[in-house]
Amino acid sequence: MATGALLFACALLGGVAVAQRVVTLQSGPLVRTEGSHVTILCNVTGYKEGMEQDFEWSMYLPSVADREIRIISTAQLNYAYAVYSQRVNSKEIYVERLSGDSAMLHITKVQANDQGLFECYTPNTDGQYLGSYSARTNLTVIADSLTVTAPAQTLSKVEGDTLQLTCEVSRTTLQHTHLSVGWYLRSPEDAASPPQELVTLSRDFVLRSGGPVPAEDGGRGPQAG
Ligand SMILES: *[C@@H]1O[C@H](CO)[C@@H](O)[C@H](O)[C@H]1NC(C)=O
Ligand SMILES: *[C@@H]1O[C@H](CO)[C@@H](O)[C@H](O)[C@H]1NC(C)=O
Repeated sequence: MATGALLFACALLGGVAVAQRVVTLQSGPLVRTEGSHVTILCNVTGYKEGMEQDFEWSMYLPSVADREIRIISTAQLNYAYAVYSQRVNSKEIYVERLSGDSAMLHITKVQANDQGLFECYTPNTDGQYLGSYSARTNLTVIADSLTVTAPAQTLSKVEGDTLQLTCEVSRTTLQHTHLSVGWYLRSPEDAASPPQELVTLSRDFVLRSGGPVPAEDGGRGPQAG
């Protein structure tokens, strides 16, 4: 009888040792521009199978490192503290569930005062506590210092001529940033129609030409712009 109980206890310990909860948050520091759409991915492994996991996001300001500010939870409504409740209610901040054990926090317009340490916490779904239940990552929000200058000019060209246009793009930040620069053509007849992409240099220095002119614009004839 006693031996049976001992074996059972050992088997239980052995089974638990492999299933250790691990929460993984997109590693930081994440550096994002004020006003941009920020996403932070969180996932969890090592829990008992078949249970959909919940995710709770909080943040800690750099100035008050031990005060948790709750933002949003997949388990509870009205989880946010006052500073975040309006942005959560208006869906400016939301959680996208990607699977039973991964979810993405979206901040559609990040603000300077979102800078801090973000924490993803997953409530326990097992009988006992084992492993880690949260993970943290730093978010740095930099000012949008992007400026674009191009001399205003009226050019007259004969078909077949070479056209050279100059555009200067700059930003002032100590952070390592990537810029993407594109040229677009706007129809002078219809200022309301969307500009047509001509050529774009991606932030990874890949040059890409724009798509074909939509049929309603009258085909691929020469256009001024
Ligand atoms: C999610 O989990 C897998 C392992 O299960 C890991 O490789 C991946 O990096 C995780 N992603 C994030 C962003 O947590
Ligand atoms: C976040 O940044 C603070 C301040 O620089 C640092 O002390 C802390 O270790 C960082 N935490 C993580 C999880 O990167």
